[in-house]
Amino acid sequence: MGRRSEGCASERNAAPNPERSFRKAKWLLVVGVFLPFFSAQATQDPEALYNRTCAACHAGQMPQAPERGDRAAWEPRLARGVDVLAEQVVQGFKAMPPRGLCMDCSIEDYRSVILWMSGSPDT
Ligand code: HEC
Repeated sequence: MGRRSEGCASERNAAPNPERSFRKAKWLLVVGVFLPFFSAQATQDPEALYNRTCAACHAGQMPQAPERGDRAAWEPRLARGVDVLAEQVVQGFKAMPPRGLCMDCSIEDYRSVILWMSGSPDT
């Protein structure tokens, strides 16, 4: 408390400290650059994931596999719940191999790619 009346305090308030605001800007830059990177790791980009794995079968090559954006094919499946569908991808479903051939996909990744692929308005 008593320190406020000492000389150095008024010296510190005399001018804005340029070094301090620079450091703050640098910190914001670091957060801005790395935050999207970390969130992208939490769930993969659904479009990239689809193109990398699911599109091998879900782009019209296999008649049984519901195509991307084919709402009529997806709707009855989505009615069972996206969690159920994600679980079925993990375990394999009829002609679909387990995990949909994606070895580094999490259950969250499956959910987001299923919503994206089915053209669900949730995405
Ligand atoms: C090797 C081919 C193949 C790959 C790769 C593949 N699928 Fe499939 N998938 C199928 C086939 C075939 C069906 C239809 C199964 C049926 O209904 O007979 C299907 C069905 C589904 C269904 C509906 C399941 C249900 O309960 O009706 C979902 C959801 C699905 N795939 C998601 C995915 C996702 C997500 C990926 C990528 C991570 C993926 N698939 C990759 C072949 C594939």
